[in-house]
Amino acid sequence: MASTDVPTKYHVRAVAAPVPPVVTGWPKEITGMNLRTRMSARQKVVALAGASTLVAAGLVTLPATSAYAAPGCDVTYSSNQWQGGFTASVTIRNVGDAINGWTLRFTFPNSSQRVSQGWSANWTQSGSQVTATNMSYNGNLATGASTNIGFNGAWSGSNPSPTSFSVNGVNCNGAPPTTGPTTGPTTGPTTGPTTGPTTGPTTGPTGGPGPARVNNPYSGARGYVNPEWKAKAESVSGGNRISSNPTGVWIDRISAIEGDPDSSSNGPMGVRDHLDEALAQGAGYIQFVIYNLPGRDCSALASNGELQATDLPKYKTDYIDPIAAILDDAAYSSLRIITIVEIDSLPNLITNVSPRATATANCDTMKANGNYVKGVGYALAKLGAIPNVYNYVDVGHHGWLGWDDNFRPSAQIIAEAARAEGSTTANVHGFIANTANFSATVEPYLNVTEANRLSTWIDWNRYVDEQRYAQALRTEMVSQGFDSNVGMLIDTSRNGWGGAGRPTAAVTTGDVNAQVNGSRIDRRIHLGNWCNQSGAGIGERPRAAPATGIDAYVWIKPPGESDGSSTLIDNDEGKGFDRMCDPTYTGNPRNNNNMSGALSGAPISGAWFPAQLTQLMQNAYPAL
Ligand code: GLC
Repeated sequence: MASTDVPTKYHVRAVAAPVPPVVTGWPKEITGMNLRTRMSARQKVVALAGASTLVAAGLVTLPATSAYAAPGCDVTYSSNQWQGGFTASVTIRNVGDAINGWTLRFTFPNSSQRVSQGWSANWTQSGSQVTATNMSYNGNLATGASTNIGFNGAWSGSNPSPTSFSVNGVNCNGAPPTTGPTTGPTTGPTTGPTTGPTTGPTTGPTGGPGPARVNNPYSGARGYVNPEWKAKAESVSGGNRISSNPTGVWIDRISAIEGDPDSSSNGPMGVRDHLDEALAQGAGYIQFVIYNLPGRDCSALASNGELQATDLPKYKTDYIDPIAAILDDAAYSSLRIITIVEIDSLPNLITNVSPRATATANCDTMKANGNYVKGVGYALAKLGAIPNVYNYVDVGHHGWLGWDDNFRPSAQIIAEAARAEGSTTANVHGFIANTANFSATVEPYLNVTEANRLSTWIDWNRYVDEQRYAQALRTEMVSQGFDSNVGMLIDTSRNGWGGAGRPTAAVTTGDVNAQVNGSRIDRRIHLGNWCNQSGAGIGERPRAAPATGIDAYVWIKPPGESDGSSTLIDNDEGKGFDRMCDPTYTGNPRNNNNMSGALSGAPISGAWFPAQLTQLMQNAYPAL
């Protein structure tokens, strides 16, 4: 076909869906435990941690004497053991100011030690680190009050008692310390040096709302490691090689705001719990995925959500507003909060609507009612008003929007959304490409030429990889009125394409298809395939500023979480069965009627799929 006659564009989505018993695939030790209730926590201790971080950053001055609560705790640990097993009793005594909600942490000295079943607290274990949070009935501890909790455990070799404990991030030494010193030294160094120097110069010229916003929130900052994902990753053999990487925390339903252990993709930790844990980790940034638009996932079925096409009011009041209220809490002002805004939404209104062959009825509906545009505008306005929140809007990937008839129109509708519902383009800090997709970051042996654009693989696309696509899109976005400092993110969680079969040089013989197919590292059957791709591997590890215009490589899709079930699985989460996740499916116009390339045996989207993680680690590039 002529180069001006660009073919249909294939949608390309990202994620998919999984199922059932919440704890499927979790480490055995955790199964059967009290995975549960919210941890209310938020209290003065947290405010203290936030405040001392700021002190270290030189931004505020903390009063020398306490305007804050003095935290203090005393923990007694005793155990009865037999060969291979033990029962531990733990008493927490509050010797500081009254607290409402607690998180106890300690580390087992021996790597074999495991919590297998706990009581009177919500127990989780990640590596050797154990976390226990209060139940609804024992969270209040007045000064001098105690509570007793316990667990059964397993060990081999030896079973030494842990020697140091913390409650709400404060080390327990039995005496109420003076406020400043306790948390200051641990949190200070991480964020201190990075925020101070960069802030002033970058925000001034752009006129952005947050005086504290830095140009690249990933620079010089350590990412938050989600303990719920970490535990799942470590339940798979070899998972500890990747489990300490920061991954996206998906707020994929209203109940996830408070924590929802009954859903297949969430755990008991809600948004506040993650933020508190981020403070406790001394993290510099945390990444949340805002993903609950009305009529979600209009071009596919695997990640259909809980809100109906007309539920815009509910999206605002029950989803965005409560999230914004939490993120705006001064306790978290020292964290750089990255929000990935509504993946797989706006571009669908360009590529998968009538009269295109790729149209779906749901995308036609969402285009007509305007609720994607309004929902994104509202989210950007509310979240962008918080000075330490960094909005990154999803821009699909090159295998979706890299064609001329999709590229600029998608940029335009994103700009329209950024100006909707009271938002302005200043609320957008950047954009993210490839969320939950498999497109390569860089195709090292392939460039697009006029000669190879007619190949079946490239098919008139302007790009073959995410980095060059993202850089070009950045320029386009600036021309649409976004700030000239906007930065790009690339989700590299599953686009490594290593392992056997990865080319090591360009193929320069044979016809154009032989050359392109022999040279490309992306080994999908078709670029439009998006579900649990067979042969995929973990990609670049998360890191800041890897290339011009790119703020970071990130892992937004948590590796090992399914994109969608490979057979129909009933569920009460709104997740549909999309045959793009069925390995026997022969395709639709959105993947040009190719085989789906999906793995078999997959649970619903978001649910844990250990076999996929095993494959991703095998094919990691760079290798693990
Ligand atoms: C899919 C699921 C969602 C999950 C996400 C990350 O989008 O629909 O529930 O949180 O993937 O795995």
